[in-house]
Amino acid sequence: MKIIAIMNQKGGVGKTTVTVNFAAGLARAGRKVLIIDADLQANTTIAFGVEVKYKNDSACDLLSVLTHTCKIEESLLIRPIQVKNKMSQIFIIPATIALSGFDQAVRAIPAKQLLLKQLLFEIEGDYDYVLIDCPPSLGLMTINALVAAHEVFIPVQPEFFALQGISQLLDTVKLLQKNLNTGLKIGGVLCTRFNRRKIHQEVLSCLEERFKTTLFATKIHENIAIAEAPSFGKTIFEYSPQSNGAYDFDLLIKEFLNREVRQMTIPTLQQVFKQVEK
Ligand SMILES: Nc1ncnc2c1ncn2[C@@H]1O[C@H](COP(=O)(O)OP(=O)(O)O)[C@@H](O)[C@H]1O
Ligand SMILES: [Mg+2]
Repeated sequence: MKIIAIMNQKGGVGKTTVTVNFAAGLARAGRKVLIIDADLQANTTIAFGVEVKYKNDSACDLLSVLTHTCKIEESLLIRPIQVKNKMSQIFIIPATIALSGFDQAVRAIPAKQLLLKQLLFEIEGDYDYVLIDCPPSLGLMTINALVAAHEVFIPVQPEFFALQGISQLLDTVKLLQKNLNTGLKIGGVLCTRFNRRKIHQEVLSCLEERFKTTLFATKIHENIAIAEAPSFGKTIFEYSPQSNGAYDFDLLIKEFLNREVRQMTIPTLQQVFKQVEK
């Protein structure tokens, strides 16, 4: 089970858009996906057009799961996804505005940075991928996501201030790599809302130089269908499967899955024997 935090403390760079469509692409490729909506704006939850469940008048959302007033299985929402002629499912732990009370609700808990990690430990192995849509800040919820994650994906809108924001973000990642999550990796930097403006090309060149192969070769171009899809509660693959947006996300999934294959370590004979002996 690979846990990926989709993060950039800048708002409006495409975190939610990437989370929703990347999840849909993975589901179409036959992977079992759980999304954790960790942003109190609940854009991912809304973009999937799913109804948040209520239990005794309060939402069964991420906050109630993290504070143990709701069980994880009670909070799970299911979003069907069409894969060719079959249906697949994406699972979501939704966000609500109640998440604005997260810092206050957990202030007395000593290991408050580890809550999400502990939660995901309970469901280890149930999913192929867990995607965490992070809020636009480097606050406690984002730290929880970075502690729980194996990898960080950084969507970047190629504007002048983007690069400055990334340095701050990388400093935070480095800090976590030193103590709370030594295995944390930058899984990929993804150029979003790309168009033919000169500044976009210039920033892209800087990103290529700085991140080399960590930068996805695929870029998500500015595309009207991508912006419209959430208002219909649809992913780009459902809303406009022939659009350039669907094409870009399809390419991204292919590139990502190829990377995954390349990163897979082939077990040594000794490891195989040990496994068999068990
Ligand atoms: N590739 C794209 N083309 C057109 N609009 C996009 C694209 N990516 C994101 N958007 C739009 O930009 C806005 C911000 O994107 P969003 O994913 O919500 O960013 P974040 O989660 O980082 O705040 C949304 O209105 C979204 O529909
Ligand atoms: Mg968002």
